[in-house]
Amino acid sequence: MEKINRRNFLGKSALAALAVGTFDAPFIRVARAGEPGANDKIRLGLIGCGGQGQVDLKCFFLNPEVECVVACDVDEAQLAKAVAICADHNRKPPDTVRDFRRVLDRKDVDVVLIATPDHWHALPMVMAAQAGKDVYV
Ligand SMILES: NC(=O)c1ccc[n+]([C@@H]2O[C@H](COP(=O)([O-])OP(=O)(O)OC[C@H]3O[C@@H](n4cnc5c(N)ncnc54)[C@H](O)[C@@H]3O)[C@@H](O)[C@H]2O)c1
Repeated sequence: MEKINRRNFLGKSALAALAVGTFDAPFIRVARAGEPGANDKIRLGLIGCGGQGQVDLKCFFLNPEVECVVACDVDEAQLAKAVAICADHNRKPPDTVRDFRRVLDRKDVDVVLIATPDHWHALPMVMAAQAGKDVYV
């Protein structure tokens, strides 16, 4: 095994830093490439439209390929806030549902963003994985 000394540690760290700068996460690269084509869209289902769900939705929208096709909350007033965020970010209005299982049923949802209270994390997350969705919880 190669012995690590200060000089080769610093050299390898510099190489690693260069690699990180060169090979960004894929979705950051797409964001820089400009308007995405229809096939590059990432279709999001938001489950839980409270404070954290709204903040996370805005963060997802920093990537132009993300659209929110459906928002879910048991509270109509919270749903209205998610719909307003979509409009503020020039996205199409999402469908709205009150039962998270209706999000998971949809074939047009690639990823679910789960921002329900703690005791409502596990069930939607497991069921979303079983439905083949990518999950951010
Ligand atoms: N607010 C923050 O600053 C913050 C920061 C970090 C993490 N979090 C985490 O984010 C999660 C959500 O917190 P929050 O502050 O957004 O709470 P919140 O009460 O503002 O929002 C939760 C939303 O989930 C909805 N909801 C509850 N049960 C549901 C269900 N079964 N199906 C669909 N919708 C349902 C509620 O109606 C509400 O709109 C928590 O786990 C919290 O710990 C929050």
